[in-house]
Amino acid sequence: MKKIQFFDTSLRDGEQTPGVNFNTSEKVRIAKQLEAYGIDAIEAGFPIASQGDFEAVKAIAEAVSKTTVVGLARCAKADIDRAHEALQHANYPQIHVFIATSEIHMKDKLNMTREEVLQSIKKHVAYAKSKFDKVQFSPEDATRSEKEFLLQAVQTAIDAGASIINIPDTVGYTNPTEYGQLFNYLKTHIPNFDDIIFSSHCHNDLGMATANSLAAIENGATRVEGTINGIGERAGNTAIEEVALALYVRKDFYQCESNIFFEETKRTSDLVSRISGVPVPITKPIIGLNAYSHESGIHQDGVLKNPNTYEIITPSLVGVATNSLPLGKLSGKHAFKTRMNELGYQLSETEMTESFKRFKDLADKKKQVTVDDLHALVLGQAHEKAD
Ligand code: KIV
Ligand code: ZN
Repeated sequence: MKKIQFFDTSLRDGEQTPGVNFNTSEKVRIAKQLEAYGIDAIEAGFPIASQGDFEAVKAIAEAVSKTTVVGLARCAKADIDRAHEALQHANYPQIHVFIATSEIHMKDKLNMTREEVLQSIKKHVAYAKSKFDKVQFSPEDATRSEKEFLLQAVQTAIDAGASIINIPDTVGYTNPTEYGQLFNYLKTHIPNFDDIIFSSHCHNDLGMATANSLAAIENGATRVEGTINGIGERAGNTAIEEVALALYVRKDFYQCESNIFFEETKRTSDLVSRISGVPVPITKPIIGLNAYSHESGIHQDGVLKNPNTYEIITPSLVGVATNSLPLGKLSGKHAFKTRMNELGYQLSETEMTESFKRFKDLADKKKQVTVDDLHALVLGQAHEKAD
């Protein structure tokens, strides 16, 4: 089994979600929960960005004991120094240095030539290495960079001392086939590929972040970057809980394992959603309200006979108390009878047939039939009998 590490950037890239702003104590609370969830590395912030971010990274470095704590830095000495200062008390500090390598970013944003970018990588990765044991380098906008130049940039960073290379799909532009091929290209052209941690970093602009991250793993990546609930700028980042569980549920296919404690999934998701103020869509895989909810009669009947008929994830595995079988117009007699028994009603066959008919009539008029409706239904039936 190949070991996959998870790098959580909810507190850095995730905080780039418009409207999200974590204070230091919120960041520390989330960081501690990420540690409990089994995350291998936490990107705590961008220390040079503000005094608040610096203090939050410092506080997390002091609060977290087992997990690597990471600070982001541009290719600039001042950024690296500030990250070093913020991380000085971390048990396992790591720096994450980045610079863009796509033509559009180099020309229109950085106003730098290719040669200048390579020189900057060489100089700043070496400087970072003089201060940190673990140096990560990211060629920003890697998936829109010219492949041969990207290889040159990555090789330059490795030669200067980077032991972790992250390949960002900064604008969520790639697809699983292409992203997999890119990792494969790097694998075949970097002589000591296996000594380096290669990492995926995907954005979800075209809804492919999870699939792209999995494609990277299939092609040599041993680390996945992402956020809890997929929070992040624009359409967000890879949702860590999705990749982690996909690897687990399809171990037969991926042959991978991780350090994630799956039972902490829901608690972690709830905390990030509550503190960030970003709600989780009800249909969100793994942690959405409806992820273990079965509405149609055929599905409800199957789940009551054997949950595996329609559930590939046991809710308790990810810390969700139970599945649910909401009663609506598509529900069948099996689910109805089960619910009535749960509510304490032992109805005869004739009473059950009559109640079920009333239930169906009501369900046709309402989106969902509630427990109160069910009590009222039986009560109404009893009154009619008495009359
Ligand atoms: O998406 C991106 O390119 C980033 C970098 C800073 C790694 O978040
Ligand atoms: Zn990003």
